[in-house]
Amino acid sequence: MKVFVAGAAGAIGIRLIPQLVAGGHRVVATTRSEAKFETLRALGAEAVVLDGLDAAAVGEAVSRAEPDVIVHQMSALAGGNNLRKFDRWFATTNKLRVQGTQHLLAAADAVGVDRFVAQSYTGWTNAREGGPVKTEEDPLDPRPAKYQREALGAIRFMEQLVSTAPLTGIVLRYGNFYGPGASEDLVALLRKRKMPMIGDGAGIWSWIHLDDAAAATVAAVEHGAAGVYNIVDDEPAPVSEWLPYLAECVGAKAPMRVPAWLGRVAAGETTVRWMTQARGASNAKAKRELGWQPALATWRTGFRHALTDAPATGIAV
Ligand SMILES: NC(=O)c1ccc[n+]([C@@H]2O[C@H](COP(=O)([O-])OP(=O)(O)OC[C@H]3O[C@@H](n4cnc5c(N)ncnc54)[C@H](OP(=O)(O)O)[C@@H]3O)[C@@H](O)[C@H]2O)c1
Repeated sequence: MKVFVAGAAGAIGIRLIPQLVAGGHRVVATTRSEAKFETLRALGAEAVVLDGLDAAAVGEAVSRAEPDVIVHQMSALAGGNNLRKFDRWFATTNKLRVQGTQHLLAAADAVGVDRFVAQSYTGWTNAREGGPVKTEEDPLDPRPAKYQREALGAIRFMEQLVSTAPLTGIVLRYGNFYGPGASEDLVALLRKRKMPMIGDGAGIWSWIHLDDAAAATVAAVEHGAAGVYNIVDDEPAPVSEWLPYLAECVGAKAPMRVPAWLGRVAAGETTVRWMTQARGASNAKAKRELGWQPALATWRTGFRHALTDAPATGIAV
């Protein structure tokens, strides 16, 4: 098949292209910067410049490519990491999820594209009540923190738009990414002991290695019914387990512990909720319906051996 990957030069995109090519697919890969063309070509893709917020340009690029499938991996989270002003940090990503998705779906419609696969997220988005692990049927958080309302609204909008579109629209809710290009910031914070455990660390996180997320994306390109799928590993785990373990894996000192009230003052409400109340996700539907399963079934193996592309030595990063 011919696959148009919008936002192909990012953390997930550059792991996805080789897997699509290995699966026998032709890939048209977009970036806003011609400087990334060589990287994309070296991975086996045809490179195209595209601003996903420019409707006319999206229409032209898709109509020129005439793809069978469109994959939307555009996000803009690099650099501005600010959990206190979450919606400000997510502002462009929110636009890419709302307008960017609308532009791509309109272009897909004009060209007669069969399938559309879009990046979503599972983690802080889940309702912070009931059981520790959520399925795709469980509600998103009805009471997001003040600074996360727009980000959650954009996710809700995009998921609804894609999964009910007049083609096969698949939403992949990736868990928290780790792997080359996705975990360096977190590891740097741990090494500087700037990532303390807040409160009881009872928040449940679901992780996914970038290569496993890419493999699930290939599966969704090739088959699967319209709808939402959680793409996470087999072991949702509390912060109190994975955070000290990750610190140990990267040779950092054990994270400091701070009470929730101090975490709220120092890091803000969204961070405290994420560390103490978050819920994990089940991958049962993706395994059953996409025929996918993570090669790294647990972050325990992944954190130790797969944070970088370096050969496993027992000490990662
Ligand atoms: N589930 C998760 O945990 C999750 C999800 C998303 C991101 N992240 C992490 O956040 C960090 C930064 O990520 P990021 O958001 O910058 O994602 P990224 O994975 O580095 O790249 C996102 C892609 O979106 C493209 N893009 C951005 N703005 C665009 C626009 N206006 N039009 C077209 N394409 C556009 C970028 O294109 P250019 O080539 O033009 O720059 C890039 O190819 C990474 O470490 C990543 O792993 C984690």
